[in-house]
Amino acid sequence: MTSQLDLVNAIHDISCPKLLIKQFDGIHINRPSQSNMASLSDQAYVPAIRPTSLGDSEFKRRHGLTYAYVAGAMANGIASTALVKTMGKNGMVGFFGAGGLSLSQIEAAIHELKDALGDKPFGFNLIHSLADPDHEMATVKLYLDHGVTLISAAAFLRITLPLVYYRVKGIHKNSQGVIVTPNHIIAKVSRIEVARQFFAPPPEKLLKQLIDRQMITAQEAILAAEIPMAQDLTAEADSGGHTDNRPALALLPTFIALKNQAMAAYHFNRPLCVGLGGGIATPESACAAFSMGAAYILTGSINQACVEAGICQDVKKLLSQAEQADVAMAPSADMFEIGARVQVLKRGTLFPVRAEKLYQFYKNYACFADLPLADQKEIEDKFLFTSFDAAWQSTRKFFLSRGNQQEVDRAEQNPAHKMALVFRSYLGQSSKWAIQGDAQRTMDYQVWCGPAMGAFNQWAKGSFLEPHTNRFAAEIAMNLLTGACVVTRAAFARAQGLELPPGAGHFSPMPLAEILKLISSESI
Ligand SMILES: Cc1cc2nc3c(=O)[nH]c(=O)nc-3n(C[C@H](O)[C@H](O)[C@H](O)COP(=O)(O)O)c2cc1C
Repeated sequence: MTSQLDLVNAIHDISCPKLLIKQFDGIHINRPSQSNMASLSDQAYVPAIRPTSLGDSEFKRRHGLTYAYVAGAMANGIASTALVKTMGKNGMVGFFGAGGLSLSQIEAAIHELKDALGDKPFGFNLIHSLADPDHEMATVKLYLDHGVTLISAAAFLRITLPLVYYRVKGIHKNSQGVIVTPNHIIAKVSRIEVARQFFAPPPEKLLKQLIDRQMITAQEAILAAEIPMAQDLTAEADSGGHTDNRPALALLPTFIALKNQAMAAYHFNRPLCVGLGGGIATPESACAAFSMGAAYILTGSINQACVEAGICQDVKKLLSQAEQADVAMAPSADMFEIGARVQVLKRGTLFPVRAEKLYQFYKNYACFADLPLADQKEIEDKFLFTSFDAAWQSTRKFFLSRGNQQEVDRAEQNPAHKMALVFRSYLGQSSKWAIQGDAQRTMDYQVWCGPAMGAFNQWAKGSFLEPHTNRFAAEIAMNLLTGACVVTRAAFARAQGLELPPGAGHFSPMPLAEILKLISSESI
């Protein structure tokens, strides 16, 4: 008779189809054959499901991927060249965290990744900057000049001129008359009205502006009417960093329905794809995303605690100890004035509390000098480590160094704006202190992080993945994908009426070498 362990092993042997036959003395495991498949009563067929089986084949083909797995961008190079390289070399794709970096830093990363990866997949982030639209256009020009053909567009509230320029530049028909679009955008969106714009052709008004500025040709604009702004779109649920805290279970079906409507409305010649990011950190959540129809999964928070991430060891350690409730929403540096928020780690840092205080002061007072004296003193002594006036001088210098005289002039005429810029400077630096591991500033570390981190730590507890020093991004990705296969197989068996022992649908972390063996095995 089959033992419970045999049954668990049968579910976990993901490369091998199994026929589970329920008889009076328990469940028997067979290889399926023509004869034993004849009668299906009291038996369950569990097909082979490998990590390569998961996700949308068109999405994988489009981007040259073996696995439908994306490592999302993390600003300031936290999604480092090392992270992007390991994803590309292991059949997945990663996006370099270009947000917050200078053009020369981004350019250096482009050279490094092109040299290291050749034609293997990699991408760069284009993050919308309300405060600095010129930087957005300059970044797009850099990508076009260097032949970066895949970007992840995030934080957009509407389609912008630089975005259309990137998407449309170089569009042409090949010798068979098929439209070829050299530049691909994977949009990351949490709002339906923004998603709708990405799944539509580029707006005519912006195409016209680009023609008027002689940035695209009339022919490029004509062909643009037949393509979507983004062929692929990540529905971003409750995540680390900028987030609307949308629940994945509600968000993904809405975006999939939108995709189907857009395909019916526009008759694009290639299918649109919707992936899911936000909260994915375990085999169960990866399985849920694919089972609900996600074309691919995207992770962020869990990669920040990995060896390849560009952030200091102390932060990685803090992250590796975080639990689900150790995150909080805090005001964001880039869209501070409009009250935008980011999800951050609250364990081991006072940042969320301090940032909230600054935001409330900005909302309630017209200038810094109006704050109660005790609050002024606390901010100067504990947050800024200098006087408000001295902090303004260094903030001013920063804006001038980026050629942004306009912001400086505005602040010098408007004390509320001056206060906002100084507070934003504290918020902006707090993420740099975390990256660098500035020992004097541990209480000010701003670490973007979502509840996915706690879920991952809980799953990894007691395994070789518990210490952050053992966490390698591609190995973790393969664990999530392989685990998702196990969870899916167990669900198949249960859906056919078999009662499985408790461990059957659980997958514990495994070293990559063992996973690769499991994937290629054909044994029963
Ligand atoms: C530290 C950190 C920094 C991030 N920075 C960016 C960024 O610059 N651009 C971007 O598009 N997304 C950014 N994100 C979002 C991730 O790319 C990804 O969409 C998100 O983390 C997925 O949700 P999860 O955190 O629940 O895995 C960041 C996330 C984290 C954790």
